[in-house]
Amino acid sequence: MRVILLGPPGAGKGTQAQFITKRYSVPQISTGDMLRAAVKAESPLGLEVKGIMASGGLVSDELIIALVQERITQNDCAKGFLFDGFPRTIPQAQAIIDAGIIIDAVVEISVDDEEIVARLSGRRVHEDSGRIYHIDHNPPQHPGVDDQTGDALIQRPDDSEDTVRNRLKVYHEQTKPLVAFYNQLSESQNEAPKFSTVNGLGLLSDVQARLIEAL
Ligand code: AP5
Repeated sequence: MRVILLGPPGAGKGTQAQFITKRYSVPQISTGDMLRAAVKAESPLGLEVKGIMASGGLVSDELIIALVQERITQNDCAKGFLFDGFPRTIPQAQAIIDAGIIIDAVVEISVDDEEIVARLSGRRVHEDSGRIYHIDHNPPQHPGVDDQTGDALIQRPDDSEDTVRNRLKVYHEQTKPLVAFYNQLSESQNEAPKFSTVNGLGLLSDVQARLIEAL
């Protein structure tokens, strides 16, 4: 199973990816998590992308495509994978096609902008694993602490309201056009991925059920 989860920042891609990857036994490939790990490690890649990520802008297509192409050659991707946060531009989507990678399904999780601003102000994450919580909608068992490791949870530096609004602007300009791109592709080619949109509002379990149905 090769799946792409599309959607604005805060739509719940990472949250739902955790369920889907378990159900289908495929790895989650989150370009955001990969870049954050590079920033934390202060690698040359991390130093290059740190400022772009902090402002809510997009890292260059060239760099992202190389990162993903290298990642999917690893053994754990042999039976499929779930892309979370990739592709994010038309050139990134075109690179998947040009590389001959067959995608089975593209699912857009749809959530309006004001809900996203509210959600991201309450998000907390476990930095090392990428596990995601929300202080009201998906709280950890003990406030501020990761369920599995007991480590302190953090707020992502790009979750401040101004940066979230910039990320949404970038999403509407550069990523939202992928919805029309995949919609048209699914109608025009036999081997094209199946495209669907699911409502991202409501209980986590309800969104999960809609995704399973779409897949
Ligand atoms: P990335 O890490 O990919 O961020 P994003 O796409 O902005 O998505 P998020 O991780 O913010 O949100 P999500 O949809 O995963 O939501 P979540 O499940 O956490 O990218 C970060 C940066 O890296 C980018 O800005 C860019 O600079 C760079 N980058 C990454 N990929 C790139 C690429 N391909 N090209 C170029 N640059 C790239 O949920 C959010 C919150 O809501 C959580 O607290 C969660 O608990 C809660 N929640 C989830 N579902 C629900 C629900 N149903 N009801 C209520 N709350 C919910």
